Formats: sequence, structure tokens, C-alpha cells
Amino acid sequence: MTNELKDEIRCLAKEKNALILAHYYQSLDVQAVADKVGDSFALAKYAKSNSADIIVLCGVRFMAESAKILAPTKKVYLPAENAGCPMADMVTPEDVLMLRAEHPDAAVVCYVNSSAAVKAVSDICCTSSSAVELVRGLPEREIIFVPDQNLGRFVAEKCPDKTVHLFDGYCPTHHKIRESDILEAKALHPNALALVHPECRTEVLNHADYIGSTAGIIDYALASPADEFLIGTEIGVLEILQRDIPNKRVYSIGATFTCPNMKKTRPEDILACLKGEREELILDPEEQRLARLALERMVA
Ligand code: 13P
Ligand code: SF4
Repeated sequence: MTNELKDEIRCLAKEKNALILAHYYQSLDVQAVADKVGDSFALAKYAKSNSADIIVLCGVRFMAESAKILAPTKKVYLPAENAGCPMADMVTPEDVLMLRAEHPDAAVVCYVNSSAAVKAVSDICCTSSSAVELVRGLPEREIIFVPDQNLGRFVAEKCPDKTVHLFDGYCPTHHKIRESDILEAKALHPNALALVHPECRTEVLNHADYIGSTAGIIDYALASPADEFLIGTEIGVLEILQRDIPNKRVYSIGATFTCPNMKKTRPEDILACLKGEREELILDPEEQRLARLALERMVA
């Protein structure tokens, strides 16, 4: 990215009172022009609590939808309009309603990686950083967890007094990491700590030294006295750590894993949003109202 482009984006963002939010999986160029970079929980909180008129959410669709739901009076833009999350698309509102009919006493906990329509029929949302604490705190003993089976299984293990009904969704990027990958990486770097996202398969999580959200992994590595880390999540986190702790060795577990949708945003797309050349995100008003209840409970 040229300095001219960066300056143009920053000047226009100031002029328009716009807040540029970027997920850790965005390219380093996109992160460089953002006001805030964070995990999905932090981005939802930033979207809700600021005085900007416009939010440009550099991430995937469900993140921009969450920003719109939590900040309904602001204009929200998703710069790469076709950036979806395949895991979010795996579950439909009809699936949730069917599960509700099967388990009428259960609370529906919906991972924030889901559409506004799915959130609208759920009781409460969670992110990877809030899921365990949130489920633990619910009065219901029975939980329906959608859509991520891996995060759901991780939560169930941490909350043994709850009965968790899992859905069979998964993240295609994190699912690529195999048990053999983490075992080989550990054999190759026996002193390294394995830091892994809970969207990974259970057999991968079983060998992790730390399991947490993207922010959790980054904070853990920055604070740790260890010199070597094995990272089990999307390449964006690896790149941030290689940049921010250059004196330490940071390796990917297995090959590097990229979320193609997260990499669709270009700085030029952010500029186009700020210039008003893109459509703002509009949600169905009733879906937005109902989804807000589930998301507000999460943020609270
Ligand atoms: P975080 O909640 O850790 O930011 O993860 C979001 C995500 O999409 C991971 O694949
Ligand atoms: Fe969705 Fe996986 Fe990409 Fe995260 S990494 S946005 S869960 S596809």
C-alpha cells in the first residue's frame, strides 16, 4: 500500500467521523489503516461504544452485521461485500427452530459466527473468548450450541454440569489442522508452546498448551517468557506475532492456514466505502431487533 493511499483513507475517515475496525485476520495493510484491530468480541464492543457516524468493518459479513445490530443508528459498511464466513452459512434459522423443538428446555447459545437471522432465533450469542464463561453463567442446564461443533465440544468439556447439544458446523480453515500436524510440530520444536484457537478439532486442542481466541493467543504470546510458539489459527495471527516479537520464534502448526474470505478486503475497498461508493449494510428490521437481544446479552 502506498503512503498516499494510507493518508487518503485516514484523512477521509477523520473528515467523515468514521471508525475503521479490522479483525486480526485482515492483511497487515488493512490493519495499518484501522483505528482498532481486535478479535470478534472486541470489534463488537468497539462498534457499540463510540461516537462515530460511520463504521467500516474490515472482516467478514457476520462481523459487519453484529456492528450494525449493536449500533443501529450508524452507517455500517463491509468493504469486501462478498466476504462471508462458510461456518456461519452452515446453520439456518430453521435448523435452530428444529433443535429447539427437540430440546424445549435448552437455551440456544449461538456463536457470533452466524447470520443475523440465526441470532434472531437464539437466546444469547458468544464469541470464542466469551463462550465458556457465558455458558457457565447461564441458569439453564441444557444448552443448544450452534454452529461450531469444535468450540461447542470445548465449551461442553469446560462446563461438565451442562448438557450441550452440538450442531455439526465447522470452520473450513481451522478444520484443516490435523492432530498429526500438531504432533509433528511439537516433535520438531519440543520447547515451543502450542497456542491454538478453539475452532480447531478436539484432537488438536488436546495437545495445546493454551486455547483461546485470536486476541487471547496474541496476548498470551506477548506476555509469555517462552521463546518459541506454535500457532494453531489463521495466518494473520502468525504474521502479527512475527512482526511484534521478532526476537522470538513463531511457527505455524503444519502448513500456514488462510481464511480466503478474510483476505478479500483491500485498502482500496475501505476508501470506496468512505467515498460513499458502496452500499451501506441494511438488515431486516425485525431480525435486527431480535438479534440485538441475543448480542446485547453477550456484550453485557
Ligand atoms: P475470534 O473470535 O478469535 O476473533 O475468531 C473469529 C473467527 O472467525 C475465527 O475463525
Ligand atoms: Fe469463518 Fe473460519 Fe474464516 Fe473465521 S477463519 S471467518 S470461522 S471461515
